[in-house]
Amino acid sequence: MQIVVKRLLLVLSLSACAASCAGNGEGLDQNGQPISAGGGKGGPITADFQSIQDNVFTPICSKCHIGASAPEGLQLDSTHSYNLLVGVPSNEQSNLLRVKPGDPDNSYMVHKIEGLPRIAGGQMPLGEAPLTQATIDAIRQWITNGASNSTATAQDFAMQTSAPLDRSALIKPPARIVVTFTQDLDTSLINDDTVSLEKFTEDSIALRIPAVAALSTDNFAVLMITPRKALDAGDYRVILRGTDGGALANLQGRTLGANVTIKFSVEPAP
Ligand code: HEC
Repeated sequence: MQIVVKRLLLVLSLSACAASCAGNGEGLDQNGQPISAGGGKGGPITADFQSIQDNVFTPICSKCHIGASAPEGLQLDSTHSYNLLVGVPSNEQSNLLRVKPGDPDNSYMVHKIEGLPRIAGGQMPLGEAPLTQATIDAIRQWITNGASNSTATAQDFAMQTSAPLDRSALIKPPARIVVTFTQDLDTSLINDDTVSLEKFTEDSIALRIPAVAALSTDNFAVLMITPRKALDAGDYRVILRGTDGGALANLQGRTLGANVTIKFSVEPAP
């Protein structure tokens, strides 16, 4: 049993290293071990996204920030966190991005983990001990350095997730619909033909809702659809055209291959 456990640990530490320690050995001590900056649960933290994911988002934040019930649609598991943080406006204070590359002081996530007086809601992690200063410093440094995605691996071009998620029922109307992708999109393909927001009336007739569709200027893998007026109660769907001429595609011209539909409903005000 002991041997099996040891092997497993070895495999885990090797694979963690394959992703984050490759290259010039930066962040490693003379024995090739990661240098500890002290901080978050789970071990040494360094100012790169993989380390922050492994030490903070996965063990601490994704307990709550996961799946359909993720607060504010912010999923912080390793598959979804990057594109829901970087370049995406906060729901609580929509004049701020959750993470603004190069600018930790104007990144709302930093305000939330530091518990600044002007935040809405509570300090994160909610109801738990605040992150250590060393952890916060590593997150700030990652943002200062440009908030790049060290976890990015080669993946086929596809939709990743959305906020709201498909088939969710919302108590308050979303200020915007966020759709994330595994790769950057070709911004020239985003227009009224490829991205549409519709509302269904009782007799199932789809009405087009005026909205602005654009990529985040800080993250081209994030598409945001902002209705021009607050959405009232009812059933909605977003349709992304993924086939035929002019369909949504990555920078190499690869299309999604199929249309994508995201449905959600806004509940009547109580
Ligand atoms: C115990 C559950 C819980 C944990 C753990 C938790 N959160 Fe939250 N988070 C919430 C809830 C609930 C809200 C919405 C209400 C609020 O802000 O107090 C929220 C809101 C947020 C927001 C605001 C999102 C927006 O769009 O405005 C951010 C950013 C955030 N959390 C980041 C984190 C980070 C980073 C961690 C880990 C360090 C974390 N949270 C851990 C429950 C949690």
